[in-house]
Amino acid sequence: MKLNFFSNADRASKYVAKNIAECISINNSRNERTVLGLATGNTPIQVYNELISYYKQGLSFVNVITFNLDEYYPMNASRKESYHTYMDEHFFDHVDVPRENIHIPNGTLPGDMVKEYCNEYENKIREVGGIDIQLLGIGRTGHIGFNEPNSTKDSKTRLVYLDKKTCEDAAKDFNGIDNVPKMAITMGISTILSAKKIYLLSFGSRKAEITKECLFGEVTSDRPASFLQGEEAVEIVLDEKAGMLIHRNKNKLT
Ligand code: PGA
Repeated sequence: MKLNFFSNADRASKYVAKNIAECISINNSRNERTVLGLATGNTPIQVYNELISYYKQGLSFVNVITFNLDEYYPMNASRKESYHTYMDEHFFDHVDVPRENIHIPNGTLPGDMVKEYCNEYENKIREVGGIDIQLLGIGRTGHIGFNEPNSTKDSKTRLVYLDKKTCEDAAKDFNGIDNVPKMAITMGISTILSAKKIYLLSFGSRKAEITKECLFGEVTSDRPASFLQGEEAVEIVLDEKAGMLIHRNKNKLT
C-alpha cells in the first residue's frame, strides 16, 4: 500500500486523472482495451472533470470499458438521485465511452433476480480480463463501494443494507433520510481487491479520522477499507485535510 499526500484535492485529482489517461493512451496505442472501475460521490468529480479535459484534447475512450462500484436498491436509473444519472452528468455524457461498454448495477430488478444478476456482474468483469484501475472513495463508516461494516474480505457483488451513517450522509441528496433507499447493490471487497491498480481518494477533514483508522488501525470488517492495508495494488491519495492525523514529512507535499 502506497500513501501519496497532496496539498489539495485539485492536485490529487489531477495526479489520478493523469495516471488513468496515460494507461488509456498506452492501451489505445496497442489497440487494447482499458477496464475502469468507477466510483460516485463528491470525491471523484474532479477526476472526471480532468478526464473530460483529456478527451477534449484528443484522448479516445472508445476502447474503455467501465464497471461502477454500486447503485442504490431499489433505484430507477432515470431518477436524479441514481448513480446512473450521476455518471451521465459527471462523465459519460461528455466522453466517447460506448454505451454498451458501460456497466452500472441495475437497481430495478425484482428481488429474486438480484443474486443471479450479481454473479453475472462478477462474470462480466472476469470476462474482460479484470479491472485495470479502480477508483474508490471512503465513507464515514469506512465503507468502500457500499461495503458497510461487517463486510468480509472475500465478499463479492451483492445486495446489502446501508449503514445509518451512510443514509444520514445521503439524506441531503434525497430530501430527507426517510427517502434514502435502505439497500444497494455493491461490488464486494474481493471484487475491488482483484483490480490491478486501486486508487483510494480521501479528501477533506471529515474523512481524516476514519482514513487514519482504516489505514493504520486493526484490519477488521468493522472498517472495510482496512482490508486495503498490505495490498500492493493500493495507492491512497490524500489531500492535506484528510491526511492531517497521519504523521508525515511536510516537505514531501506535492
Ligand atoms: P463522498 O462519498 O465522496 O461523497 O464523500 C464517498 C463514499 O461514500 O464512498
